[in-house]
Amino acid sequence: MSAATVEPREKLYEGKAKIVYATNRPDVVIQYFKDDATAFNALKRGTIVGKGVVNNHVSATMFQRLERAGVATHYLATLSDREMACRKLDIIKIETIVRNVVAGSLAKRTGLPEGAPIKRPIVELYYKSDPLGDPMINEDHVRMLGLATPAEIGWCRRAALKINAILRPYLRRRSLLLVDFKLEFGRHGRRLYLGDEISPDTCRLWDARTKERLDKDRFRRDLGGVEDAYQEVYRRVVGGKPSAA
Ligand code: TMP
Ligand code: ASP
Repeated sequence: MSAATVEPREKLYEGKAKIVYATNRPDVVIQYFKDDATAFNALKRGTIVGKGVVNNHVSATMFQRLERAGVATHYLATLSDREMACRKLDIIKIETIVRNVVAGSLAKRTGLPEGAPIKRPIVELYYKSDPLGDPMINEDHVRMLGLATPAEIGWCRRAALKINAILRPYLRRRSLLLVDFKLEFGRHGRRLYLGDEISPDTCRLWDARTKERLDKDRFRRDLGGVEDAYQEVYRRVVGGKPSAA
């Protein structure tokens, strides 16, 4: 698929970090990656210059790596520095989080220090609901709320662990420690696909040697050097420097 065969039509949805457009093809959408950044359910807002370009290309690289390893993703093509053509999914309203190292809300919930290793990766489910602030839920809640069938949830869990098993060594070879990350899945026809993005917005990525944070925690926690961290992830994952688009 090339830019010539997909044309944007009306805006379907505008989220905190992306805009989704319909296209001339009914089963294809375009994700447009913005520089807008939010944290703490949009209580904190800002701009990370160049983030959209980084997240678009980093996500494309990750999706292509996963496809080569047999994971079905919504990725179809990179149309421009900020636009990705994707299969149109019926998104399951669950955020699936995988954790390899204690950080963030897991440190808060358990009292364990950030950076403590986890022997076996942990999978957590959150209800994707802005008004409720994305609360953690379990499989009984998923069934009660009718968010997904038990078979779908089983599939998402297995896919999340497979994705972790592929991306962890892939990123380690690029001197990045995959601490944790968030995934969204959706339905298209009779199949499930990985959707959304995989980027420094949705992953915790630490320098493997120094443990320096190279992800959105720099913005969430006012650590400074936010743009530089995103550019560094681009350099390690995609290669080279992003254009200034
Ligand atoms: P947490 O430790 O705050 O629960 O975050 C776990 C992972 O999920 C981390 O890599 C960042 C990602 N994440 C999102 O992608 N979106 C969100 O809204 C939140 C809270 C976390
Ligand atoms: N997506 C979250 C929000 O603004 C931010 C985060 O990643 O922490 O609600």
